[in-house]
Amino acid sequence: MYTGERSDAPEQPSHVAIIMDGNGRWAESRGLPRLQGHKRGADRVREIVEACPDLAITHLTLFAFSTENWKRPPTEVIGLMRLFRRYIKKEGARLVAEGVRVRFIGGREALDADLRALMAGLEMQTAGNDQLHLTVAINYGGRDEILRATRRVAEAVRAGKLLATEISPEVIERHLDTAGLPDPDLILRTSGEFRVSGFLPWQSAYSEFAFVDTRWPDFTAEIFAAQVRGFARRERRFGAVAG
Ligand code: FPP
Repeated sequence: MYTGERSDAPEQPSHVAIIMDGNGRWAESRGLPRLQGHKRGADRVREIVEACPDLAITHLTLFAFSTENWKRPPTEVIGLMRLFRRYIKKEGARLVAEGVRVRFIGGREALDADLRALMAGLEMQTAGNDQLHLTVAINYGGRDEILRATRRVAEAVRAGKLLATEISPEVIERHLDTAGLPDPDLILRTSGEFRVSGFLPWQSAYSEFAFVDTRWPDFTAEIFAAQVRGFARRERRFGAVAG
């Protein structure tokens, strides 16, 4: 959430966002089909979600499928969509019981109607939870999100609900998919690539970044905890000078 005011104290990250990379390479290096890597990756999602309360993480955001991922072979795209369906059906009850509030970000219109219904159902079932805010990005791209937000703001101006001079960071923020969520403190990418691939460009303006070599299917709760502790040792200044 854009606040304009920032603390400069090193702190525990309460919102961690993860680019879960390396499933394909994990599988290929073992002579397995790429989908096996995604399946193993889905198991890691459960492990990392369960690790959050002990690490005092209140918000976890996961990049599961980007607007560019449609360019992958159809079998992989279909397999990933099947995995999302299965995850919601299999893990849904557990997430409800564990007090996890689930939200999905990204453009939904491109997804199959049955998957959209499963997503909306889980969001509804978990709407009252607040132990952990789990946000899953599916068909998400940061530029696409900003574009859709801009269209909504422009529409509000056209409808006379807003003056162009009233457009502020807070107004833009309210029109993003992540409206109401805090900005990520730490963005983590697995599998040794130093890129953000369009993940949360607006929201990451003051985030710290961590890039780890481990491929997502090998990313354990222990590695996660070590990264979180590493973050707590950093000093965040948000553009100010050290005190
Ligand atoms: C990137 O690895 C990973 C993805 C595109 C998919 C992430 C999806 C999951 C972990 C599955 C389950 C997710 C949820 C939320 C249930 P890659 O295939 O790009 O790896 P590569 O760079 O080695 O090819």
